[in-house]
Formats: sequence, C-alpha cells, structure tokens
Amino acid sequence: MAFKERVFSGVQPSGNLHLGNYLGAIVNFVALQERYDCIYCVVDLHAITIWQDPAELPRATREVTAAFIACGIDPKKHIIFNQSQVAEHAELAWIFNCVARVGWLNRMTQFKEKAGKDRENASVGLYVYPNLMAADILVYRATHVPVGEDQKQHLELSRDIAQKFNNDFAASIHAHGYGDAFFPQPEPLIQGPATRVMSLRDGSKKMSKSEPSDYSRINLTDDADAIAQKIRKARTDPEALPSEEKGLEPRPEADNLVGIYAALAGQTKAQVLREFGGGQFSNFKIALVDLAVAKLGPIGNEMKRLVQDPVYINGVLADGATRARVLAAETMNAVKDIVGFVR
Ligand code: TRP
Repeated sequence: MAFKERVFSGVQPSGNLHLGNYLGAIVNFVALQERYDCIYCVVDLHAITIWQDPAELPRATREVTAAFIACGIDPKKHIIFNQSQVAEHAELAWIFNCVARVGWLNRMTQFKEKAGKDRENASVGLYVYPNLMAADILVYRATHVPVGEDQKQHLELSRDIAQKFNNDFAASIHAHGYGDAFFPQPEPLIQGPATRVMSLRDGSKKMSKSEPSDYSRINLTDDADAIAQKIRKARTDPEALPSEEKGLEPRPEADNLVGIYAALAGQTKAQVLREFGGGQFSNFKIALVDLAVAKLGPIGNEMKRLVQDPVYINGVLADGATRARVLAAETMNAVKDIVGFVR
C-alpha cells in the first residue's frame, strides 16, 4: 500500500533554542513546507521525562512555537501544535509500550547518556521516551521525519515498532481492510545546512542548551551585541584560515565557524574558504558577526514580539491541535479495531 507523504517532527520545550536547533533542524522544517504536508510539534510530553518547572514550561512551549513561526513555518498551511493537547500521542504510545521489546530500549544510547550514572533514579518516562516518539510519528502515519543525527537511532526504533505492529497484527490488519501494512516505515531526513553545530568553546562538543557557559552557544533570542561578543570570544587557533577544506580537518573550532558561516550564507565550506582562506581569523570573525546578526537578528526580534502575545500563540496551538486531533483520531480508531478493543 502506498502511504500519503507527510512530514512530522518535534522540538522539546526545555531551555533556550540555539543556532544548533536552527541550522540542524528548523531550517530544514521550513524548506520541507514546499514539498510536503507538514506537522511540527512542540513535544511537551517528552520534555517532562526530565523535571520541568511548571512555572516555566508554558513560556518554553510558546517560545518554541514563536521560533517556528519566526523562522518561516506557516501555521495555516501546515500544523503547529503542542503534544499534550492531542491525547492520541500518549494513547498510541501505550500500545507501542506493548509492541517494543525491553531489549530494544536497552540499546538506546541517548537513554544511557541522559540517565547517566544514577540510572535507578531516572524517570520511567525517560526510558520509554523512544516509544512515545514512535507514536508521535506513526499516529499521523508520517513518512518523512527531519531530525538531527542524534535521533537516528530513535527513528530506527520507530521503524522496528511499525514493522512489528504490522507483522503481529497482520491478519487483523488484513481483515479490517487495511491491506498488508497499516503503518509506513518513516524515513529520517538528516540533511540541514549544518547537521552538527559545535560549541563555540570546544569544537569537539555539540552546541547544547545544557552546557553551563552561555558563551558556548548562540541563542535564537540573543541580541546583536550578544551575538557579536560570543563570536568574538569563540575559541580558535592562532593560524590563518586554510584555502582548502582539507586544512580544516585537524582544526575543529575553525571547521565549526566556517561551517556556521557556510550554513548561514547558503554556501559550501569550499566557497567560504575561497573567499577567506589565507586571511586572518579576526577578519573572518568580523564577517561572521555581520552575517549572523543579519540572519538571526530579525528572527530573534520576531520571536520576542510573538512571545509577548501569548493569546495569539495559544490560538495557533489550539487551532493546530484541533486539526491534528482529526488525523490522530482516525489512526487511533483503526488501531483499536486492529488490536481488538471494543469501541
Ligand atoms: N526526540 C526529539 C529530540 O529530542 C524530539 C522528538 C520527539 C521528535 N518526538 C519526535 C523528533 C518525533 C522527530 C519526530 O530532538
């Protein structure tokens, strides 16, 4: 059976959005609107797998929503909503808790990283997080999922869950007239202009909201002064920029800044080096500040304007949730029939 092409992705409302989220994910979300029907979700159910202050969570949810809109996602043509408003996500996740195997979840590297040494004390939600992620995608029978590199393993698990559901319930799926497969095999789209934006303080670590130093990242709401200061202070080495990309290989910090420039300018790293290779790092940084301020400044300003209008943002989320619920309910009703629940 051919599945209707549909894009789904999610961003957690936990902490500030930064340049890594923008170049690694959101830019891609924006581009995909031209070719697909898209559903973009603020995944608040995922966020609470780690403690979130209830006084902060609504603000964070609206900030991600504002970022989606400020970056150019159209909430009328596509769907933007927050996960907790569509109960079918949690409902399908329960079914998937009964499809996925403990052994599969035990292999998830992100759980091991996030739970750290004190695994006994991690929430159960953090452990079954990938099952909820599979439900997010499959409750819309989405076919394409733009994600960062770090989510690839979770997406593979989603595919395994879809396949096991299709196999385990094959007879029932067939009997209910859904053909050979009820769920598609969702495909990751890992392209983005820069799939790995690294910390400005350490070129071997990813830019992250959990890094203590704010100088390690550029937040989407940073003003021009903050952007300029952070780029000026970004760690570099004493050498001039190379003229060839190969020259960046042993220099992670230089590679990262050239990569950021390239992604923001819509160029390749080779093109950037043709312009700046052989020149002083300080001159390149001045050009990078100008570019970053020109590209990110308007987004940050628009985000700040939007978050001051919570009534508007809440309205966007409520409208998106209403439209998402229609699609999700259709899947969930079919799943209930397939599994054998009386309704
Ligand atoms: N786990 C993703 C992250 O932390 C967020 C997410 C939740 C997601 N559900 C999703 C991404 C479904 C893609 C599809 O980045």
